[in-house]
Amino acid sequence: MKIIKVKNYDEMSEEALKIILDVVRSKPDAVLGLATGSTPLGLYAKMAQDHKENGTSYAKCRTVNLDEYVGLDISSDQSYVYFMRENLFKNIDIKLENTHIENGKADDKEAECARYNALLNELKQDVQVLGIGSNGHIAFNEPGTPFDSVTHIVDLAESTIKDNSRLFNSIDEVPRQAFTMGLSNIMNAKKIIILANGEGKAYAIGELVNGEIREEVPATILRNHPDCILICDELAGKYI
Ligand code: GLP
Repeated sequence: MKIIKVKNYDEMSEEALKIILDVVRSKPDAVLGLATGSTPLGLYAKMAQDHKENGTSYAKCRTVNLDEYVGLDISSDQSYVYFMRENLFKNIDIKLENTHIENGKADDKEAECARYNALLNELKQDVQVLGIGSNGHIAFNEPGTPFDSVTHIVDLAESTIKDNSRLFNSIDEVPRQAFTMGLSNIMNAKKIIILANGEGKAYAIGELVNGEIREEVPATILRNHPDCILICDELAGKYI
C-alpha cells in the first residue's frame, strides 16, 4: 500500500483529485467506484470545479456506489443516492442513467443484492474511492465481515449508527440496516484510493497500516491489494 501523508483536508482532496483525473483522462469511459460520507466531499467539490474550469468530461463514465441505507431512496435527503446527486452528479456532465447504487427501497432485498452483484461483475471499477469508519469499516462492511463477501445486507454496528447520526435529526432516524458492496467487490477494483482525515480516524488508520490483516478490522484487507493508495492528513495519520 502506498501512503501519501498530507497536512490537511484540502491537500488530501487535491491528491485524490489528481488520481481521479489521471484515470478519467486516460480512459474516458472509466468505471468510477464512489463513496459517500463527509470525507470525499472535498474531492467531489474539486471534481466539479475542474469540470467547470477545465472541461474534464464524465459523459462516458459509469459510476458504482458502495452502499445505501435500507428503506431510503431518492425521496429522502438522507439517502446516499440523494447525496451523490446533490454533491457530485448535478455538478458534472455524468449521465444519471450511468450512475448505479443499490435500491434502498427494493421489496426483495436478496434479489436486489443479486442484481447489484451481477452489475458489479460487469462494471469493474477502474478506481474505487473509499472513506473509513472509526471502527475500521469500509463501505458498510462492519468488523467481522468475511473477506470474500459480495453485495449483502448488514446490521449496522452501534458505533456506526452513532457516528452517522450527526447527519440525521435524531439517532432514532438512522436506519439500522444497509445494502453494501462486499469486501471482494471492493478488492476487484483495479485501483483503490482510501481517504481519511481527522483524529477520529487515527485508530482505524493505525490498524490499516500496522495492524494484523484480519476480518475484525475490515480495512486491513486493502493491504492485500496490488494498487491501493492511502491519503491521510496528519491527525488521521498520527499512529503511522
Ligand atoms: C459510512 C459509509 C462509509 C464511510 C464512513 C465514514 O459508514 N458507509 O462508506 O466511509 O461512513 O464516513 P465519513 O466520511 O463521514 O467519516
